[in-house]
Amino acid sequence: MLPLDFQGRTCLAIVLAAGESSRMRSARPKVLHNLAGRSMLAHVLSSLMEAGADRTIVIVGPNHGAVVAEAKAIARDAEIAIQTERLGTAHAVLAAREAIARGYDDLLIVFADTPLVRPETFAKMRKALGGGQNAVVALGFKTKQPAGYGRLILEDGALKAIREDREASETERNIEICNAGLMALDGNRALALLGAIGNANSQKEYYLTDIITVARSSGLDVAAAIAAEDEVLGVNDRAQLAAAEANLQARLRAKAMRGGATLIDPSSVTLAFDTVLGRDVVVEPHVVFGRGVSVGEGSFIRSFSHLEGAAVGQNAIIGPFARLRPGADLAHDVHIGNFVEVKASEVGAGAKINHLSYIGDASIGAKTNIGAGTITCNYDGFSKFRTEVGAHAFIGSNSALVAPVKIGDGAYIGSGSVITQDVAPDALGLARARPIEKPGWAKAFREKKRK
Ligand code: UD1
Ligand code: MG
Repeated sequence: MLPLDFQGRTCLAIVLAAGESSRMRSARPKVLHNLAGRSMLAHVLSSLMEAGADRTIVIVGPNHGAVVAEAKAIARDAEIAIQTERLGTAHAVLAAREAIARGYDDLLIVFADTPLVRPETFAKMRKALGGGQNAVVALGFKTKQPAGYGRLILEDGALKAIREDREASETERNIEICNAGLMALDGNRALALLGAIGNANSQKEYYLTDIITVARSSGLDVAAAIAAEDEVLGVNDRAQLAAAEANLQARLRAKAMRGGATLIDPSSVTLAFDTVLGRDVVVEPHVVFGRGVSVGEGSFIRSFSHLEGAAVGQNAIIGPFARLRPGADLAHDVHIGNFVEVKASEVGAGAKINHLSYIGDASIGAKTNIGAGTITCNYDGFSKFRTEVGAHAFIGSNSALVAPVKIGDGAYIGSGSVITQDVAPDALGLARARPIEKPGWAKAFREKKRK
């Protein structure tokens, strides 16, 4: 919760997510495109929850089952309303008519395609309503690249209107104060104002932005709150998606460094929204963190490693060129070297898997050494099977451990073995042909051929 006193005012957040993804040129609804490992919609819903909205309703288009599923996965008690025809942003808000009519003090209207807004900014917009003194608060921002955005028409600092880019005159197009799209409305007056918005414009759409002139012509007060440009970036196409990603990455990197991690070349490290890096973690250039990764204090993540759904303990060394997949759970002081893939496996403290290995569906005991080229054969084309290797074991290079199989504590596996049955603790397991040497054979062979 934020340190803001709303004097017990209730708040309904309305999330507009019904738009077509025409400018994205995508089979997927726009708001399900990812930023830092989760959808734009998920970012918006999480910020709203943090900002303390009492109730959230998501407006989705018809055939948007996947959007509904995502909304429910992030905010279980979010309501859903369907906008059957996409007739503009004001029309979309009115899809929440019944929820609005239940009576809330404040309405927050947010766009699922504007994913980087901080919870503090939602709070600021509500505050600017002044307890209902203003009927509408529009969120503006200043930019050197206003093309495509609606413009705030201000006179002596007072908000007179918002003009959509398409409808703007040449002079209005030069205005650098733009509409972020998001608004706070006085809940008691919202339905009347929204109902009075018409569609007399080039697109025959009901523009939410017209609510400013509608409110003013009813003698009501309106105001603008200003946000930083990097927070209100709207995503309509792939280039803007990349710009939003860059922005969010910069934020996440700064947060990781504030938390005590060293990123040698921050701009080459990709983080997820939930990446946790402990104190004194060092990340070399060109590392990718997918969602669900935590790295313990003092660990070193070397270049070209890719981690996802993995927990790394303290003082571990990962990479270069390591791949940790979901369920990789590494204790402290583990070393994972180049071209090693670990999936759904626990690796005990101080164990080493340093070269060219696949370890999947396995447990590896503490201080065990897995030799170069060791593979757990975990899959027969139908089911997955587990490999269990005890502590202080030594697996010789180029061994295949055919699961299900258990190697006891302290056991040795001879290099090049294909192990298909369990090996007892402290035993030597060997499964390869005995070497044969035929003295003089090669020389005799050559002489025979020369004749
Ligand atoms: C909108 C604003 C513009 C602002 C810009 C900021 C309007 C009329 N214009 O333009 O002033 O500068 O955002 O990014 O509000 N949506 C629906 N149903 C619809 C139409 C849209 O749910 O019928 C949703 C979209 O999914 C999206 C949001 O509303 O999340 C905004 O729609 P979009 O078409 O992206 O509006 P912009 O052209 O970006
Ligand atoms: Mg938009």
